[in-house]
Amino acid sequence: MYKEKILNLLRSSRTAFLSGEELARKCGISRTMVWKHIKTLERDGFVIEAVPSQGYRITAVPDLLRQNDISTGLKTKLIGKHLHLFTETESTNTLAMEMASAGALEGTVVIAELQTQGKGRLGRKWVSPKGNLYLSVILRPQIPMHRAPLVTLMGAVATASAIRTACELKAGIKWPNDILISGKKVCGLLSEMSAEQDRIRHLVLGIGVDVNMKLGELPADIRSLTTTLAKEAGAAINRTALLQQVLRDLEHWYRKFLENDSDILEEWKKLNETVGKRVAVGGAGEAVEGLAQGIDHEGRLLLRLDNGTVRTVAAGDVTIMKGK
Ligand code: BTN
Repeated sequence: MYKEKILNLLRSSRTAFLSGEELARKCGISRTMVWKHIKTLERDGFVIEAVPSQGYRITAVPDLLRQNDISTGLKTKLIGKHLHLFTETESTNTLAMEMASAGALEGTVVIAELQTQGKGRLGRKWVSPKGNLYLSVILRPQIPMHRAPLVTLMGAVATASAIRTACELKAGIKWPNDILISGKKVCGLLSEMSAEQDRIRHLVLGIGVDVNMKLGELPADIRSLTTTLAKEAGAAINRTALLQQVLRDLEHWYRKFLENDSDILEEWKKLNETVGKRVAVGGAGEAVEGLAQGIDHEGRLLLRLDNGTVRTVAAGDVTIMKGK
């Protein structure tokens, strides 16, 4: 508690020094205790300059997510009102599904600095080193089952919008819900659901954004298809600000989704980079090639094959054919 208070005082004094005496007085503790908390902050990764007769000031902050920083100024009413932040977990989706089964409230968000068994679409692994964003949101929409896939589209719309706002990068969506910048993948979404008959008990929306990691940390086969926000922006990204924006945009678009389907579908169409292109769809069964003609009201891809028939595709991996 005192450590957080000292940190907040040092942060708000920015580049000016704060004396040990002043910190001690403001916290109601001794100067020796102040010094001990300063040492703990240094162990947490803060670089703190200490100058005799002037005091302390922060010169560098660790690239670590902190619960307090995320919640301060977030102002969402539902998404992220309850936040659980972990240094490491197997998979935020797995954990969020367990928490949801145990009764966690709608809007609860699970975040981890690193995942040891991150899950991707179609049973793949999501390599999850430090420096990125890994989050899962628990939702309990009272909707018929056929609308459930639209929740993932909603998540893609919200995340792409948040990247555009927070990083000023031109993020687009590749069907169904990969987020691309300059044609390379920067984010993936994975929804998992628990349901009975036609009722959704809970749904977990998982979002993985490649933010500040080094691309060399990825296996060679996916490295050339992937980018990071830092690489595209040419500078490290403030993950806290980006995460807050993702939560705000999720709140906005989730509310719209509960009202109707059309706003999400319209926005998805504006952000998408698949429709109108020649694509190959694989991943779930035999690969098919054709023109991506649009999506239907349930978010399925409408693919015009070369023989003129239109195929409705519910799941798969899209490759956009170059130069066609
Ligand atoms: C994809 O294959 O594109 C989907 C990747 C989804 C990754 C995110 S990271 C947070 C959440 N936890 C997981 O284990 N997976 C999702």
